[in-house]
Parts: sequence; C-alpha cells; structure tokens
Amino acid sequence: MDFVEQLKSSVDIVNVIGEYVKLRRSGANRYMGLCPFHSEKTPSFTVHVVHQFYKCFSCGAGGDVVKFVMEKEGLSFYEALKSMSERYGVPMPKRSQYADEDSKLRGALLAMHDLAEENFRANLQSQAGEAARGYIAKRGLAPETVEQFGLGYSLYSGRALVRLFEQRGFPVTQMEESGLVGKREDGSLYDRFRNRLMFPIHNESGKIIAFGGRALSAEDEPKYLNSPKTPLYVKTKVLYNLHRAKETVRKEDRVILVEGYMDAIGVTAAGFRNVVASCGTALTTDQVQAVKRHSHRIAVNFDPDAPGANASERSIDLLLAEGMQVRIVELDGGLDPDEYCKERGAAAYQERVDGAKGYFYWLADRARAQHDMRTSEGKVAVLNFLLPKVQSITDQLERMTIAGDVAGYIGVDRGMVLDHFRKAVSERSEKAIERPQSPLRHDERMLLIALLTDAELRAEMIGPLRSLQTIGLLPSRRIFQAIFALEDAGGRVGFDEVNGRLEEADQSLLAETVLNEEREISREEVAAALESMQRSEQQNLRTQLKTRIRELDRAGKFDEAMRLALELQGLERAAPGWRRGGRA
Ligand code: UTP
Ligand code: MN
Repeated sequence: MDFVEQLKSSVDIVNVIGEYVKLRRSGANRYMGLCPFHSEKTPSFTVHVVHQFYKCFSCGAGGDVVKFVMEKEGLSFYEALKSMSERYGVPMPKRSQYADEDSKLRGALLAMHDLAEENFRANLQSQAGEAARGYIAKRGLAPETVEQFGLGYSLYSGRALVRLFEQRGFPVTQMEESGLVGKREDGSLYDRFRNRLMFPIHNESGKIIAFGGRALSAEDEPKYLNSPKTPLYVKTKVLYNLHRAKETVRKEDRVILVEGYMDAIGVTAAGFRNVVASCGTALTTDQVQAVKRHSHRIAVNFDPDAPGANASERSIDLLLAEGMQVRIVELDGGLDPDEYCKERGAAAYQERVDGAKGYFYWLADRARAQHDMRTSEGKVAVLNFLLPKVQSITDQLERMTIAGDVAGYIGVDRGMVLDHFRKAVSERSEKAIERPQSPLRHDERMLLIALLTDAELRAEMIGPLRSLQTIGLLPSRRIFQAIFALEDAGGRVGFDEVNGRLEEADQSLLAETVLNEEREISREEVAAALESMQRSEQQNLRTQLKTRIRELDRAGKFDEAMRLALELQGLERAAPGWRRGGRA
C-alpha cells in the first residue's frame, strides 16, 4: 500500500476534522458542522465516515483528510502528510517522493525560528540579558511564566542571528525570507530585532512562525516591533496564544479575547488559560474562524480607553457575522486586563468575566451615554443604532429575548419595536437556505450506493445494469461508467477509486449522492431499485418504438410499422406493473 493510502486508512477523518470543526452526528454515516472554509450560520459542511471525505454544500470545498489538513493549516501536500504522520503515529518512509521546494523552504524557516528562540532565551539568561530581566521583574512576570511563553531577549549587537544562520549554512535568500534578518543597501545583513524583549508567536499546531519584540524603554520606538509577512506568517490569520489556549477554550466553551501580548500573558498567569490576543491588528474574519472551531462563546476584553472601546464595537459586528455569542468584559479603574489581574487578583477578574454584559447591553449603554435620552430625537437615534445590531443575532431565541428588552431599555413604544423585529425575522427566514435535494432519482441513488459499498450486491447487479441503455441517459452516467471501468480493470471499487476517475462536477455529484443517503440500504431496496431501473428501460424502449411506429406509419411503411407494433405489444405484456400504472 502506498503511504498516502496507509495514512488515510489509519486516521479517522471525523477525529481529524473534529479538531477544527465542532461536528454533530447527522446520520448513520454522516457528521455535520459549520464550514471552516467560509462563513456560515447553518451547517452545510458534511463529513462522511465510511467514505472518509468532507464536502461543504454551500461553498463546495471538499476532499479527503489530507486535503483538509493542507487547506486548514496552509500546508503543502508533503507537509500535511508529515504532520499527520507525526501526530497520528503512522511512520513515513524516509526519503519521500512528496518533498517539494515550497515545503523545504518552510522547513528551513521553521528551523530558523526555533534557532532564534533558543538564542533569545539563552541571551535572556546571559549577562547581556540583565536589563531585560530587570524589565521582566518590573512587569511582575514570574520565571515560570517567562518559561511557559518562551520569552527571550535579542542582543544589541545586531548580528547574532545572522552569524548563527551563516554557521548553520542557511542561504541569504532564506535568511531574508524568514523576516528575522534584514539586508542593507550595500548587501550586508543585520538582525531585525535588537535589544528587545522577545515574544515567540506560534501557529495553531504550536510551531514558532514569528516574533514580537518589545522595547525595554519608553524612548525606544516602536513599542512593539513584529515579524513582517513571511511564507510562515500572515498576522491577520494568527491569534496569539491560541495553540496553548485551545484545549481550555473547548473545555470551558468560552474564549477571552484581549488586545496585547502582555494581556494574554498576564491573564494566563492569573489562571485563565482560555485567552487569546489579536495583536496589533483589528480583529479579522480569519482570526474569528480560527477560534470559532473551539467555541462560539467569546468574552471581549479590550483596553478600557476610547480606542479599545471602538475596537470592541467594530469587532462585535464581525463576531456576530460569524455566529459568535459575544459578551464584553468591562474593567473598572481604567486598567487593562494584565494590570487588572495583577492589581485586583484572579477572583476579581473572574467576577468581571462571569458578569460580562451581553454585547447588546454594552452597546445600548454606550449609545445611551452618547445621546440625550430625555429627547425623542435621542431615543430614535439610539434605536436606529441598535436595531440593525439586534437583527444580526443569529440565534432566534436570543434575538427575540433581546428585542423584547430593547423597548424597556430605551424607553420607547414596545409595539413599535416588536413590529420592526417581526418584519426582520420573516425576511430572514425567507432567505434561509436549505440543503440541496439530490439531483438524482431514487433508484439511481440506491444503485450507485449499493455499487460503491457492497461488493456482493455489486457482483450481482453490475451485469444487469451494464445492459441497460437507460444508464447512459442518467445525470450520474459517468459515475456508473467509472464503476464499470474499474470493475473491468479488476481493481478495488471504492469511493476514492471512483472519485479519482471523475471530473470535478461529477465528483460533487458523487459526494452529494453519498451524503444524501443517511440510512443503511437493504438488499430489498436495492433489488427494487434495479427493477425500477429495468422498468424505465422498458418504458424508454416502448417510447422509442412508438415514435418509430408513428414515423413508419406516416411514411406509409405499414408492414414495418405492424411488425414493430407487435413487438410493442409483447413488451407491454411483459410489463404488467407499467400497465397497472394506467399510463399506457
Ligand atoms: P498595547 O500597547 O496595549 O501593548 O498594544 P501591551 O501588550 O498591553 O503591552 P504593554 O503592557 O504596554 O507592555 C496591544 C498590542 O498591539 C500591538 C502588540 O501586539 C501589542 O501587544 N502593538 C502595539 C504593535 O504591534 N506595535 C506597537 O507599537 C504597539
Ligand atoms: Mn498593556
């Protein structure tokens, strides 16, 4: 068996995908969840247990487990195999045919980041790290926290990493691509990070892909210097600390979102292990989708200043659009999350998080503070600001509960507000999309599934099916033909093999066919499907004959027409079921 087949048969696709998507069983062999490849509110992402593939009915994404890991983790084919082989303990052949340039580059860049982290950590403990250690002490970071987050220090000299990479034989091009090294006009190389407290940034699988470096003194600009975009790192796609937090996020079914590295670290150190940070970018859809795979409940805890509040307000729309349940944590005393944990303690922070307002009440308070609620203009302004926000709540129960509260909260006529919502709700339900019905007829679907899943039935059915012209007229004819061809070739006839012989449109059709059937199919049903298909064949033949007879009749070829009419009669006698249908 080739390694890819071996790997695919040793891992369970539901397990692997289940690490990224909350899957719910939705049939005997089927799981469903929210598609991780596009934004949606009702699940159309489906995983088939027996045939080991996934398919999104909405955006069309689909494939096998390797493709899933490639797309989700942004890996090359080779890297995906490698990562799965390590993770699921299926040893990979040493010299593999799958290594390619792209994954070699990424491998080198990852190695450089590991080296850099080691170097930064060693520096922090060295004599040169004295000032950085002093800064760490001033910020109240415990040694185990420094260790846990892999904090380090980049030397002042500015050539430490360059030298290290040269020693290890990394070419200049790779050094530049790493984002850790810059190149001057004269071609000389220098370390990007100098004299900074270094924060390693990991991808979701825990590999270091970038760094943030904090200045040690207030005069140093900028306060934080971050890795640029590299083949490993795109800042809008990464959430700081997600790889550490995700377990707890799942377990507690809640994530705390903060703004900065120091906040994520301080809050974690206070014992809240479900915290992630967006780090220097406005929250993005990619980031929300990354966290949404682990929980839909989010507590946003940005800085207490005006920019922080504005960022919270902007993030709310984005979070709601992704179907998240949003609460806003408010901290008193103008403290940010890190400061709050240090000054008030973990119990106080826990209270703030537990007591966090639903985003709507937070918005309402904000809007009320900005308008004069004694005037009707003020009330209308607040109402107009709030209504669209409430309408975007995906959960109907929550939406109606909040809608009921709005009027009282703002002090406007209750009937008016509820009316507004009823309208919005009916518009919404009209727009709701349904899972597509199978484009195939029932017998066609039964037969395909039987051919794909049951070798015994296949052996029985394939002969009779091959002789039917009707098969060649079906929308699924190319799938049948692929099955016939595989059988002729004497190979295995499974989902993968058939799928591999099809064009994309037919692959989708195959996936839908398999996914639309949730039950185990009985031998009787398959036999009935074959009979039904044979009846179609007879019907087709009769229709063809009738047409032909009419043509002959018109052309005056009565002998020939008579001969065919007799043949037709014979056919009709052989098809009692058809006549009983009363449509002859
Ligand atoms: P903050 O200024 O709130 O930083 O910026 P912080 O993490 O709380 O750090 P301390 O407590 O002041 O030391 C929030 C985040 O914005 C990004 C960083 O990711 C930072 O953690 N940022 C900030 C930058 O990328 N560059 C900057 O110059 C400043
Ligand atoms: Mn801070």
